[in-house]
Amino acid sequence: MAATYVAGGDMEYGRYDNPTWRAFEDALGDLEGGRCLSFSSGLAAVATILDLVGLGEKVVAPRHAYNGSVMQLADLEARDRVKTHLVDITDTEAVVAACEDASLVWLESPTNPAMEVADIETITRAAHEAGAYVVVDNTFATPMLQRPLEWDVDLVLHSATKYIGGHSDLLMGAIITRDDQLHGVLKGRRDLVGAIPGAFEAWLALRGLRTLPLRMERAQANAEELVRRLRERPDLTEVRYPGFGGMIAIVLPNGDLADLVQHATKLWVYATSLGGVESTLERRRRWKSEPTTIPEGLIRLSVGIEDVEDLWEDLVQALDSVPH
Ligand SMILES: Cc1ncc(COP(=O)(O)O)c(C=O)c1O
Repeated sequence: MAATYVAGGDMEYGRYDNPTWRAFEDALGDLEGGRCLSFSSGLAAVATILDLVGLGEKVVAPRHAYNGSVMQLADLEARDRVKTHLVDITDTEAVVAACEDASLVWLESPTNPAMEVADIETITRAAHEAGAYVVVDNTFATPMLQRPLEWDVDLVLHSATKYIGGHSDLLMGAIITRDDQLHGVLKGRRDLVGAIPGAFEAWLALRGLRTLPLRMERAQANAEELVRRLRERPDLTEVRYPGFGGMIAIVLPNGDLADLVQHATKLWVYATSLGGVESTLERRRRWKSEPTTIPEGLIRLSVGIEDVEDLWEDLVQALDSVPH
């Protein structure tokens, strides 16, 4: 918990380094297959990367990425700092074409909350041919299910607030890279701006990491079973699930019905955020910042590690309680 250290050692001051960050960064770096830097939140990590884009340069990004990331890009564009080119990341050909002249290609896969999946390997190859860096926000998949550095991606980003911490009790972000030069630049930015996590948060996140495989395994098994059953319900317009992970999006015919459902559950917690041991749900369009291409009736489900029959029973009573 120290803010400073006895001078002359390898850790001078608490904004530059901390032994608990190091333990966390070593562990997450090993899991992703690179060197990790931790940040005060996922969005602090996003801002640190976007800060590296040169004035007026082009960033290719998903139209449905986490709305905080999209909002940061919109803010930079409004201030003439960068040019943003939003793409449908499932349209590989269009993304590859957009890579031309880009300096950064931002991917999130699966996307929050549209649940779209990108062909990361093909897009990364095209981006590199165009001389652009590639970032993958790996928050939904975690390194248990997807390791983008193995596809030659330059930077992997996490909101460690989600599955990495896993208990909805801390905010943290992380960036992982195999590129020592990028690591040095990002560490330099973090030192300068001070977007650092608290030691206690890093300790909690490290404790959370110990059960990441077990939590992911259970959340995914629960999600697969729920998806199988949800797909049999005619009252749902759509059930979106990429085939892996613990996140599901269901679409009801309109926003009013979705509002009723999100308030009708007893076990599922009506709350934003995701990736905790407890299941949460929310209608995403309740946020004014959510892109209008996200259906009004879309509810994002973050499946936790509870008993799947309890989760199903509660979801069914909530869905059955609204008019059809
Ligand atoms: C995919 C994704 N990336 C980044 C963030 C931002 O992370 P934080 O809330 O830790 O700043 C979130 C938060 O919901 C997210 O879902």
